[in-house]
Amino acid sequence: MSRIVHVNGDYLPEEDAKVSIFDRGFLMSDAVYEVTSVLGGKLIDFAGHATRLARSLRELDMAAPCSEDELLAIHRELIARNDLDEGLIYLQVSRGNPGDRDFAFPGPEVKPTLVLFTQAKPGLADNPAAKVGIKVISIDDIRWGRRDIKTVQLLYPSMGKMMAKKAGADDAWLVEDGFVTEGTSNNAYIVKGGRIITRNLGTDILHGITRAAVLRFAREAQMEVEERPFTIEEAKAADEAFFTSASAFVMPVVEVDGAKVGAGTPGPVAARLREIYLDESRKAAI
Ligand code: PDD
Repeated sequence: MSRIVHVNGDYLPEEDAKVSIFDRGFLMSDAVYEVTSVLGGKLIDFAGHATRLARSLRELDMAAPCSEDELLAIHRELIARNDLDEGLIYLQVSRGNPGDRDFAFPGPEVKPTLVLFTQAKPGLADNPAAKVGIKVISIDDIRWGRRDIKTVQLLYPSMGKMMAKKAGADDAWLVEDGFVTEGTSNNAYIVKGGRIITRNLGTDILHGITRAAVLRFAREAQMEVEERPFTIEEAKAADEAFFTSASAFVMPVVEVDGAKVGAGTPGPVAARLREIYLDESRKAAI
């Protein structure tokens, strides 16, 4: 059975889904996206992703393709049509197809392009990597200055993942002015003396939806949270490290630039937060 995807109001087999070569998402990376996880056929943190999408669109003066209720209906229809139990839904909105290449934004007559597709990931919540932890390297953060907007400009994050692979690691943490900003596709944390430390929100990182939920659960569980930048040296000397994202939930980091973090095995804080996040998110899934 071919995957059914959504393009501008139509549900189509993936091989029939087409977007113009003049689409600004393709030519200019003039597009924003969201990735929402699906567990047990239900959406995790949908409201958070929809709210962030609306913000990304607003910040770029881009029209919304439809209402939040319509977006929810499309997500649910894709889950049903693809019989998705565990996996991800990718959503992208671009500024549309002006019919030619031009740097200037087109007028309101050009409608945004909306694309959504499912990615089946059986065992997503049971990812064996969470039991052993992952290794990261640090690289310079040379991305643009509005990382709070979730644009599809993912060339440097892709390069970062390739640099990590080449170095025998799993991912990269990005460093700017001596401090970790975030991971290539996730938010970064360390734990020291029982305190969870993660960079404060600003234009230099994506405001992770998983981050917001995990920090809320941590505070509710009386864990101490400190939102401030930290260095790679602090990460190496930390008791634990981990990252969060919609696709990995809470993922322990056991090595930074070849140095073991703590005992070099996943720590109790990350394990506990992963468990709470998965339990609470499943309960609240829609
Ligand atoms: N990435 N920081 C960056 C740079 C990201 O790309 C992501 C998400 C996050 C975590 O945000 P959230 O918790 O809302 O997923 C932080 C997605 C999963 C991706 O690009 O596939």
